[in-house]
Amino acid sequence: MTYDITIIRPEMKADAVRPRGRDLDETKRKALKKGLRALHSLEIMATKIYKCQITSEPSELNTALTAAMCNEMTHMQDFQTKLYEYGFKPDKFRVRYWAAGYVFGLGSRMLGRERMLKTGIWVETKAVHHYGELLNGAEWDAETRVFIEKDWADEYGHIARWKEFLEHPGGMVDTRSA
Ligand SMILES: [Fe+2]
Ligand SMILES: [Fe+2]
Repeated sequence: MTYDITIIRPEMKADAVRPRGRDLDETKRKALKKGLRALHSLEIMATKIYKCQITSEPSELNTALTAAMCNEMTHMQDFQTKLYEYGFKPDKFRVRYWAAGYVFGLGSRMLGRERMLKTGIWVETKAVHHYGELLNGAEWDAETRVFIEKDWADEYGHIARWKEFLEHPGGMVDTRSA
């Protein structure tokens, strides 16, 4: 299945929210909980990293970072909603990920453009790996699988975007509408 990664906040209707996975056995539910919590925390970190990397200067990179931040907020909301649909709560220690995002975001911004982009690639690569584990490691209903796959595709899109910026240090050709 292919996903449109130019949509950074897909439409969601109220009746898309429903109880899920309540009749699964304990082992399966445990795997779901672990995966959803990990991704929710990671998305909190990604949102915070991009938020801290944005400066007030109008630039191509700042616009791209703002779009990525918006997309990560969507991912965070997706996983938070899924956690509650399945009857779970977010990780109690998720504030650590928020703090780590702050440190990585601000720290990389101070070290310059290249370090900033490489930090983005590093965290997205981590996310892509977790998404793979999450998809294969638990039993998802078809609707949730689509959510996860779309968010996964978005992360690949972010990696590609930061690589493009790295390859064009002096500004780049906008290929988004091509
Ligand atoms: Fe994300
Ligand atoms: Fe991402």
